[in-house]
Parts: sequence; structure tokens; C-alpha cells
Amino acid sequence: MKECVIIDGVRSANSRAHNEKGWFRALRPDEVLTKVYDGLFARNPKVKPEDIEAVFCGCANITGMQNDIGRLAWLAGGYPESVPSNTITMQCPSGMAAAENAARAIMCGEGEIYLASGVEDMQKVPMAMNMDFAPRLAERYNIMDIPMGATAEKVAAQWKISRTDMENMAYWSHKKADEATKAGKFKKEIIPIEGLKDDGTKFMVDTDQWIRGNISMEQMAAMQPSFKADGVVTAATSSPLTIGAAALLLMERGLADRMGLSYHLKYEAGVIAGCDPTVMGIGPIPAVKKLLARTGLKVSDIDLWEFNEAFASQSLACVRELGIAENAPFKNVNVWGGALAIGHPLGESGARLIVTLNNIMKTDYPDAKYGVATLCGAFGNAGASLWRNVNK
Ligand SMILES: CC(C)(COP(=O)(O)OP(=O)(O)OC[C@H]1O[C@@H](n2cnc3c(N)ncnc32)[C@H](O)[C@@H]1OP(=O)(O)O)[C@@H](O)C(=O)NCCC(=O)NCCS
Repeated sequence: MKECVIIDGVRSANSRAHNEKGWFRALRPDEVLTKVYDGLFARNPKVKPEDIEAVFCGCANITGMQNDIGRLAWLAGGYPESVPSNTITMQCPSGMAAAENAARAIMCGEGEIYLASGVEDMQKVPMAMNMDFAPRLAERYNIMDIPMGATAEKVAAQWKISRTDMENMAYWSHKKADEATKAGKFKKEIIPIEGLKDDGTKFMVDTDQWIRGNISMEQMAAMQPSFKADGVVTAATSSPLTIGAAALLLMERGLADRMGLSYHLKYEAGVIAGCDPTVMGIGPIPAVKKLLARTGLKVSDIDLWEFNEAFASQSLACVRELGIAENAPFKNVNVWGGALAIGHPLGESGARLIVTLNNIMKTDYPDAKYGVATLCGAFGNAGASLWRNVNK
């Protein structure tokens, strides 16, 4: 087996998916994605677009502007026709599936350089747009239990996650993301893109729009439930509707050495796992268990974790049940904040978690050996991905 290393990982800042307030409201998702590619190639001049074997692009809702966005964005961005693209959909784990498919292709020797990306614009292609559920699903599940908010409420009830614990998690997610932003940590991964302020003024967007440095427990406690009159999940404890794109440049290790390129992490292993779609948020539990069993590792062997915070209820249920931690602030989970603050552009997030994990391990924890990124997805698909420091 060959080895796959991360040469670079970048992303756009995350914008609110809002047609009046969103910083990227005037951009199409293909434009955000190719601006990220432009930034990636500009800072890696030794790698030419024509040398890419293929682009794997994750996107959750491949309809409308996002129909086959992997291929169409590549062409619209002026990139070579000779480089093929595979748009991969697996709901929220789409971007992670893209990265893992590319890594596996490199390890099998099918190609040496791949671009793995993820993108989603939840404003112009809203969740469930053009959705047409198979009627037979209703024989198996209560269809009212399948929408994301309903699953977050069900997980909170079944895993006994209190509203206060969720709000505490949101508090720390914002505080850590704000601290990381102020310390310039995300500057290494964010490609600035021109966007619009509320008043229509143009500006370069280089920070995530949702992060609240001044988050208040009192304000959160006063918010109305979003999905159920007597529910416990609010906008503060849900990942917000977001627009964003991320991309990883992955390469066969020997080629990277011959080209004189540096890298910190290599792909070690990855799994996808399935669970009951009505509690889809607990997907990282079977995914991480499978990943650890396959690799012979224990929870305590993993130095850093990136858990997608689709909802505070599900993320906290997973962190607890896997025996990693009880409550935020966590020591080694989402150390620069999570999706409650940074945002969760569905198909982008799996790639973004790996981009950020790579950045965290290179920047703040250069001696850490293993990092895991994991996320749940609509309808009960989950992914977990293990990355290893090449020096350990
Ligand atoms: C929960 C949800 C329905 C809320 O959507 P919304 O009603 O449009 O609400 P917003 O996110 O715009 O937030 C409503 C208001 O609450 C505010 N708010 C959000 N979080 C807050 C916080 N922590 N503290 C204070 N105010 C907060 C927002 O700023 C907004 O006010 P503003 O417009 O004045 O800025 C939506 O974010 C959602 O569906 N999230 C989940 C997405 C999802 O399912 N993803 C897939 C997971 S697998």
C-alpha cells in the first residue's frame, strides 16, 4: 500500500445562509468552491491543475445550482476538461467521503494527486429541496421523525441531554471559535473571498459569520425551541444554516517527497457506519467504535477529536457514550470550536473537519500522533476518519 498525505487544506469562511444578511448571498456555490480551488493552487504553485488525477467533491443536496457541482464548478472555474470530477453525496459525511475516496485511490496506486472538496449553499439549495421520499419509507418509519430537528429532539430525550448542557456546549463552541479566530488560527485555512455586508458594501470575507464572541447563557436560556413547542433544541443549540466550501490537496507520499513538498498528516483509516435515521445524530458512536476496532486503537490513543456539532444534543451524546468527556469545555474535542459556532454547510463539513484537524495538529499539537474527525448525516449515515502524524 502506498501512503496518502495532506499537502494542504483550505476553506472559505462560512457565511450565513440568509438572503439579506448572508455575506455570500450574491455568490453561487460553484463560485465559492472554485475561489477556494483558486486559493489552493495559488499557494501551492508546484502543483498544476492539469496534474490532478481527479476531483472528488462532496455535496449533500445535488439539485438545482448544486447538480453535479463537482464537475460543473470545475469547468465553470476554467479548470482543465481533462481532469474528471466525481460528485459524491452521502448527506453530511459527503466531504469526508470525498477525502477518503481520494486517499484510498492514492493508497491503491490509481493516481498520485487528488483534490477532495466539499460544498454546500443552504440558502440557494435549501435542505430537502426537491425531496421526494419513497412512500415505502413510511411503512418502516414515522416520516415526521426523519427531519433533522426532530432527530435532535429525540436524541436529547433518549440520551437524557439537558437543555443547559447543550447551551453550555454552544457557549464553549463559540468561545473557542472566537478565541481561535482572534488568535489568527483560521487564517491558515481560510481563503478570503469577496462578500457583501448587510448594507451591500463589498468586503473580503476572512472570518466565519456565525461566531459570537459575546454569547450569553442568559440569552440562550430565553430562546424558544425551534422544532417542537415543548422541545429543548433551539437555534443556539443547532448548527446554523450556512454557505461554505473546503478543499484538500492529497498526494502520494513518495511523490510529495520527490517534489519537495512538506506534510504533517497521513491517512490511516476510515469507516462509514449506519444507524436508525430517526436518531441519525448518534452515527459517530458506531462509526468511531468500528474505526477503533478495525485499527486496534482505544479512545485514549486518540489525541485530538473533531466532532461535527450538527446539534449540541447529538454531539454531546456521542462524546459521552464514547467515554471521551462529559461536558464542555472539552480538553481535546473541537479545540478551535465546532459547527454550532463555525457553521455546518452540510456537504462541506466532512472536508472542513479534516482541514481544521490538520491545521490544529500542525499548529498547536505538533507532537500529537492521532486525530479523528467524525460526523453524523441525515438518514443515518455517519463517517469517521483517522489521520496520523507522519513523524510518529
Ligand atoms: C434551528 C434553525 C431552524 C434556526 O433557523 P432560523 O429560525 O432561521 O434562525 P437563525 O439561525 O437565523 O437564528 C434566529 C435568530 O436567533 C439568533 N441566535 C442564534 N443563535 C443564537 C445564540 N447562541 N445566542 C443568541 N441569539 C442566537 C440568530 O442570530 C437569529 O437572530 P438574527 O437574525 O437577529 O441574527 C436552523 O438553524 C436549522 O434548521 N438548523 C439545523 C440545520 C440542520 O439540520 N443541519 C443538518 C444537521 S445534520
